[in-house]
Amino acid sequence: MLPKLLKNNYCLLKTISPFKQLNNVKLFGITSFKNQNISKISNELNEKLQIKNSVHLLDSNDPEVFKTMEQFMIIKEDFINENEEKSLLDEIDPYMKRLRYEFDHWDDAIHGYRETERLNWNEQNSKILERVKKFAFESFAGTEKTNLLNHIHILDLHQDGYIKPHVDAVRFCGNTIAGICLLSDAVMKLTNEKDKNKYGLALLKRRGLYIMKDTIRYDYAHEVLKNTESIFKNQVVNKTRRISIICRNEPDLEAHPEKKD
Ligand code: OGA
Ligand code: MN
Repeated sequence: MLPKLLKNNYCLLKTISPFKQLNNVKLFGITSFKNQNISKISNELNEKLQIKNSVHLLDSNDPEVFKTMEQFMIIKEDFINENEEKSLLDEIDPYMKRLRYEFDHWDDAIHGYRETERLNWNEQNSKILERVKKFAFESFAGTEKTNLLNHIHILDLHQDGYIKPHVDAVRFCGNTIAGICLLSDAVMKLTNEKDKNKYGLALLKRRGLYIMKDTIRYDYAHEVLKNTESIFKNQVVNKTRRISIICRNEPDLEAHPEKKD
């Protein structure tokens, strides 16, 4: 379905949001990947490109899950500086502030949020997003070609808001999800879809970038914890209002025809 509203370069995400689709067609946990090969390739690429994951921001109750996170849940601390954060906020906030936070929809995967999508950005912010594209999509894929979705998702989570466990709809976005975090730290939990006792935690710090790839993106449900549960390595992480700017790529339906329906 096409977005209902187009206004100042924005279109309301609601109608096409991976969340909505996820809920509507119940895509939770339907995918499972043979990730041996992907894992090997990803490791080699990481080494070649010397991409350093901020592993001190990762934790898990299971050593195998931790290993998987080291390769597929990449965190880049201080990806943007304070000026860049301000520049992004200056562009986003006047629009976001006009929207109301949504709290009470029982079927929503997110509680206490407002969201939009943006296509066009000012020059400084375009440069920041270009860096995300290069770092998260081109470097990892080992190619200059990216099938990045043009619309960038902006999610504004209220201080009391949280994101329930979900897997982004496989029909609508590809193997890589990259998010810049603004305004607040938060804890993301990644739960193995096959064995829900196994999970990992990632401390998503303000101004950091995180990248969820391949098996972490497909075989783990991700959530952003509410304040009462927001603890990382025995430290309470106080989440205030938080905005994430999320880039996704197109699904590769040819490589994964099973995801067409
Ligand atoms: C999403 C999501 C995480 C974040 O919008 O699907 O999981 O960092 N967001 O806001
Ligand atoms: Mn998601």
